Amino acid sequence: MQFKEKIQGIATTNRSRLVLALDFPYQNTLNRQELALKAEKVLEEVYPFICAVKINNHLLLPLGLFDGVRQLIDRIHQKGLVVIMDAKVNDIGNTNQVISEYYYAAGFDAIIANPFIGWEDGLKPIIEVSHRMNRGVILLTYMSHKGAIEGYGQTVIDPVTGEKVPQYLSFARKALKWGVDGAVVGATVPDKIKAIYKVLGVDVPIYSPGVGAQGGSAEVALKAGSSYLIVGREIVSAESPAQAASKLRDSVREF
Ligand code: XMP
Repeated sequence: MQFKEKIQGIATTNRSRLVLALDFPYQNTLNRQELALKAEKVLEEVYPFICAVKINNHLLLPLGLFDGVRQLIDRIHQKGLVVIMDAKVNDIGNTNQVISEYYYAAGFDAIIANPFIGWEDGLKPIIEVSHRMNRGVILLTYMSHKGAIEGYGQTVIDPVTGEKVPQYLSFARKALKWGVDGAVVGATVPDKIKAIYKVLGVDVPIYSPGVGAQGGSAEVALKAGSSYLIVGREIVSAESPAQAASKLRDSVREF
């Protein structure tokens, strides 16, 4: 089964479109074991209310890919969830391929990549290797932070057609053409979600980070066309992560 269908199936079963960003603040590097236990504890509390977990360098750097993170991935899979690596892959094709092969060897189901690197000798190898291994690639399309306007918000001239087009719409068209498994669009920019959804329709689901801590609204993002919400601090830093996750899940169930 392809990644897109896998996550959709879990979302239906768990009646949740929440992707947990398992991020914690910097800790003294002598406390790495404590960090691993903290991550397991949050997962244990929150798993019934989410459909996937997203890991990034917050955990990968201190725990290590084939030590702490692989163990965590096994636990996430045991809970019936999928796990996404927020690598924002951004290098030349050969490097991208090797990087993604390591992430997949550790058990990741999908990787986030940056479309600014283009197709030939950029994203092509990672998309090919991902699909060969039945894993997913999710493409940044409009990021959630304020500075995103400086890159994703630019108007560019298509080098092939000469057409003037917003960068994010150009990326949305490429996401469709390249057959990727998802597009990241910030919950903080619902007008961009709407515009990108018009291009992608139901073929490429939209993942929206930026809910809560960054000011985005879960309801507004879903109404604009997002399929999944990536949520970190709003859940992880709550007094009760389980309560925060179940409350958020229930508040958006009907959208
Ligand atoms: P918070 O705590 O703000 O965490 O809910 C959000 C998580 O998502 C990541 N993030 C992004 N990842 N594109 C991405 O691929 C984005 O536009 C984006 N904005 C935030 C962030 O690193 C954190 O893990």
